[in-house]
Amino acid sequence: MLPTIEWQSDAVVMVDQRKLPGQEIYLRCTTAAEVARAIKTMVIRGAPAIGVAAAMGLALGMQRSRVQGTRQYAVEFNRLCDLMAGTRPTAVNLFWAIDRMKRVFGEGVRAGESVTELTARLIREAQLIHDADVASCQAMGRAGAAVVPEGARILTHCNAGALATAGYGTALGVIRAAAEAGKVSQVYADETRPFLQGARLTAWELVRDQIPTTVITESMAGPLMRQGGIDFVVVGADRIAANGDVANKVGTYTVAVLAKTHGVPFYVAAPLSTIDLATPDGSQIPIEQRPAREVSHLGATRLAPEGAGIWNPAFDVTPAELVAGIITERGIARAPYGDSLRALFDAQ
Ligand code: MRU
Repeated sequence: MLPTIEWQSDAVVMVDQRKLPGQEIYLRCTTAAEVARAIKTMVIRGAPAIGVAAAMGLALGMQRSRVQGTRQYAVEFNRLCDLMAGTRPTAVNLFWAIDRMKRVFGEGVRAGESVTELTARLIREAQLIHDADVASCQAMGRAGAAVVPEGARILTHCNAGALATAGYGTALGVIRAAAEAGKVSQVYADETRPFLQGARLTAWELVRDQIPTTVITESMAGPLMRQGGIDFVVVGADRIAANGDVANKVGTYTVAVLAKTHGVPFYVAAPLSTIDLATPDGSQIPIEQRPAREVSHLGATRLAPEGAGIWNPAFDVTPAELVAGIITERGIARAPYGDSLRALFDAQ
């Protein structure tokens, strides 16, 4: 299994995803601020992985904290929660993980625990969030593989793999499980401009797993579908609204429209921690704007001329009516999503 992020006794260690596939370099964060910076600068990215990183960053920050007394300790904890919450706005897993850490912290405070006990509690919870995410991905894989047709040629967008989670992946978890069942003949990985998660990360993961992989630019998905070259689409999600609208990497909406036009089933794979019942529909999901340089430049090379405006939304929203099903660790939700998504939580 790929090492995305790991808790060590005095550090949070993560593979630097900006450097893959050329270099496999591990970044050792020793403060909460370093973890927050790693999230913001995309050393680690992908909704579930961001949540795990934030939880571990909080645990690390409190372990390192020199403040005395429970009261000051709580003030520091809240400061670090705000720091983590300010890193990236769209992936709801970030806020889900922070809320979970807050809940566990509050329980400890109410139980009258010492600073040492509270720290141990936070470390334990961060590790639980990590381990549960791997288990959810594997469950999603099993559920999703069942709807992948035999001999499937599958298209995916961005990277929703082991690198985007604590391990195994959401969309790539489905692909991995389907490949293990002998159902996959080819995976097409959208390059995913401008950060190239598909070309760099998805292709790297799949090639390592010896799953047949072809990289295409986004603009090639249309002609490929028109030729009848795609049987199934599966992508991840950063936030799914209560009505089933899906925010995911920009370009996902285009793929969903193409899939609809060509009669290809378009599935989303995501854990319950990505489903935000408090957000009624996709119009309410905050969309992160990334720096212009990601579009104007490729590495150190300028592509667009000085003076050209740049629009760089990191995500888009795919309306629920384009989604054939939402694959979760509790099974597949189908339209109408207002009912089916809520039912998944009620089954808890
Ligand atoms: O900007 P990124 O790389 O964090 O965006 C990642 C995605 O859009 C993924 O598809 C999504 O987070 C799902 S990851 C399992």
